Amino acid sequence: MPSKNQAGRKTTLADLRAVLSDGGYGADALRKLLGIQNLDDIGLLNHAAAAARIRDDRSAAAVLIRLLFLEEVEPLVNVRRAIGARGFETLRAAGWVRTRGGGGESRVAARLRVDPVGERFLLSDLRFRGIDRGAAGWPAGDEVYPPSSDSLLLAQVARAPARARVLDLCTGSGVQALHQSTDAVAVVAVDINPRAVAAASYNAAFNGAETIDVRRGDLYAPVRGQDFDLIVANPPFVTSPYERAPSFHSGGPTGDRVLRRVIRGWRDHLAKDGCAFAVSHVGIRRGTPIEEVAGGWFRTFPGRALVVVCETGGAVDLAAAQALFALRDGLKAYRREVDRWHAYLRGHRIDEVSLVLIVACNGGRRGVEVVDARPRVLPLPLTPGPAERIEKWLAAPRS
Ligand SMILES: C[S@@+](CC[C@H](N)C(=O)[O-])C[C@H]1O[C@@H](n2cnc3c(N)ncnc32)[C@H](O)[C@@H]1O
Repeated sequence: MPSKNQAGRKTTLADLRAVLSDGGYGADALRKLLGIQNLDDIGLLNHAAAAARIRDDRSAAAVLIRLLFLEEVEPLVNVRRAIGARGFETLRAAGWVRTRGGGGESRVAARLRVDPVGERFLLSDLRFRGIDRGAAGWPAGDEVYPPSSDSLLLAQVARAPARARVLDLCTGSGVQALHQSTDAVAVVAVDINPRAVAAASYNAAFNGAETIDVRRGDLYAPVRGQDFDLIVANPPFVTSPYERAPSFHSGGPTGDRVLRRVIRGWRDHLAKDGCAFAVSHVGIRRGTPIEEVAGGWFRTFPGRALVVVCETGGAVDLAAAQALFALRDGLKAYRREVDRWHAYLRGHRIDEVSLVLIVACNGGRRGVEVVDARPRVLPLPLTPGPAERIEKWLAAPRS
């Protein structure tokens, strides 16, 4: 994947890694400079505040965060000062950034984003701006989904036995495949989107995990006849009125359209005692408890399964969160989007949407258990509230 910089020298992945590490870019820098824990703690609502927080910081880490994480446009002079002319040339030649305008006014914009996940870096399409089709030489296709809290939740729980054969379905950026690659003996990653296949291959090479075998296709089609000790899947799962695009997004009216096919394949593609993990939203229809929905998923599965409900919100909560993208066009546009999402959910009789983690093992006593792991608010406050504290302080005798 090397490309040439202006001096005609080949830019290698090692050069790119050096720009990031010499510049101090990584999860620690994000925590220190932006105070965030999760990659999607910065969303459309607090993006401007995050950018303002580090606007005057000219350090290399801050400039790289503005460019590659917040996707801000940065004066070329700042970029050159922070990471050197050679660092800038390396990013430009690799198709990671491009310049706008000319002369002293030149500005630099990212063509893709770079998310630090642990010690690794995952490249994907921009979160806050439209897709840049020529970025990094990736082919045409739908946007590649950046690692987000659902991705990291799944990675955190999915455990493989040592030297496992792993299948990552719906790989996107390849974040799950990479996470499992350390201990696995072989990892196959599948995505239907050609651009995601290119991104996952790029990320595998960038992070030194060339053994990940990335294949394009519809779920199990590229692994016909094969079985695995671990299968992980983060399928498109949003219960969305936008059913057509992009490929990472919609899971049909109840969110589980792709998930159901993923689970159906576990019977044939899980080795004996192998385990599978998935994350999804589930739209809960009035009068259909989640136990019934989960029972339907596992009707033909021969082993045991667990469904953990991590979060639940009403239809309005989902509509309000998913419509945020429309804020770019103002509050009225946002309101229209909320109404549209809400009407869609109501039309499909979806009252609530739950985020669930699903685990299944091909062995043990057949059955499905559903557990509710939502945080509970205790009925009694454990510490005095702010008003009570102030009252007490005011009432205390002055010394
Ligand atoms: C929510 S993203 C998940 C990406 C990544 N695994 C993660 O955890 O962040 C879902 C991915 O599923 C892919 N996808 C959608 N339908 C698919 C199908 N039928 N077969 C394979 N991949 C599919 C999309 O292209 C997208 O990359």
